[in-house]
Amino acid sequence: MIVKHLLDAKREGQELAADDIRALIAGYVKGEVPDYQMAAFAMGVCCRGMTTAETFALTDAMRLSGRCLSWESCTQPTADKHSTGGVGDKLSMIIQPLAAACGLAVPSLTGRGLGHTGGTADKLESIPGYNASLSLDDFQQVVAKCGVSMTVQTPEICPADKKLYALRDVTGTVASIPLIVASILSKKLAEGAQTIVFDVKCGRGAFMRTREDAVALATALVSGAKAAGRKSAALVTRMDYPLGWKVGNALEIAESIDVLKGREVPVVTELSVEFAAQMVSLAMNTTLDAARTECRARLADGSAYARFAEMVRLQGGDLAAFSALPAAKVREVKAPSDGFIADIDALVVADAALRLGAGRTCLTDVIDPLAGVELCVQPGAAVKCGDVLARLHADTRADCLDEASKIVSTAFSIASNCPEKQPLILERIV
Ligand code: URA
Repeated sequence: MIVKHLLDAKREGQELAADDIRALIAGYVKGEVPDYQMAAFAMGVCCRGMTTAETFALTDAMRLSGRCLSWESCTQPTADKHSTGGVGDKLSMIIQPLAAACGLAVPSLTGRGLGHTGGTADKLESIPGYNASLSLDDFQQVVAKCGVSMTVQTPEICPADKKLYALRDVTGTVASIPLIVASILSKKLAEGAQTIVFDVKCGRGAFMRTREDAVALATALVSGAKAAGRKSAALVTRMDYPLGWKVGNALEIAESIDVLKGREVPVVTELSVEFAAQMVSLAMNTTLDAARTECRARLADGSAYARFAEMVRLQGGDLAAFSALPAAKVREVKAPSDGFIADIDALVVADAALRLGAGRTCLTDVIDPLAGVELCVQPGAAVKCGDVLARLHADTRADCLDEASKIVSTAFSIASNCPEKQPLILERIV
């Protein structure tokens, strides 16, 4: 394979052979293909796209660039859920133990947050002692013991994606559906679960801003997973408002624990049940309705929470110490007028949470687990002038509370009429 010929062919819109794509990725990982040629390739894909066969070849080459896990010794069906990320997106912490409580084995390699979306690993690490950096062998042992483990993806999984993503990030080549599909899917396929359910978020607080792009990504992910022999489905869900009441690491863990203990939290409980039911129904060949009933029962009888608590214990976490975390400094944001909450801009809330220390703007930033934004109203709520709309939490960056409260006050729109309720699930692709 001569890389220059391959780049010429991509520029001219020709379909590349699977063997050439495999050789390109293998050469890139070994350092034989330089960054400038790989950047040209990524830009070629952004401009010319990829056929389904090319996308599959790229995904497979990236999957095979590192270790691929096997769960053959597992007696339960294996399943995982992936989210493209959103503001206050704590669903994984609920869905994974809930699906385990329904009889699945849920190996879940997860990520850290960068920019406006928080990372599941960072959230879990707000539980004192929780180890979100397990070795792959320890990860497999925790799944074997309690049916679920959540830990950061290790460098052995898809090294090609790590190298290529860093290059895409600085060459304006992230926004390409075939490259995104290959990146997400190669990691999930290497993780090895037989059922993969995708949450593709859509809206201003999401990676995919338009419904058209979100549906295209969801469809490509599902067909790629099926082509690789896995069971798969995707739900395209709205991400215009923050998810639930709480945004921030310890705040989101506390809200997840509430849901796992059976408390109904608007939007969060409904979506958690939908996703876990989709995993259970695909993995166990049951109807969605039967799976929903099973999931509701496992939340109500405490078994979903018990799975979560066991996973936390096995990964070194201390839930009693989590309950005893010190209180953060709090600042309230109040309604400037009477009316109905017509909008809560997820991106604005995320920006405030970031300034308060809940997230990272660069990889070396240190997160404040206590920082974040607690909403006191949901869209559609009637409010009176002076009612509390949000409470801002901060510890290490308490000096940012003034600035962040000004930002959060702009996230709310108050209207004289109650806005129409919008559907949460925009599409289901099975
Ligand atoms: N998330 C990923 O893992 N990869 C992408 O390319 C985009 C989002």
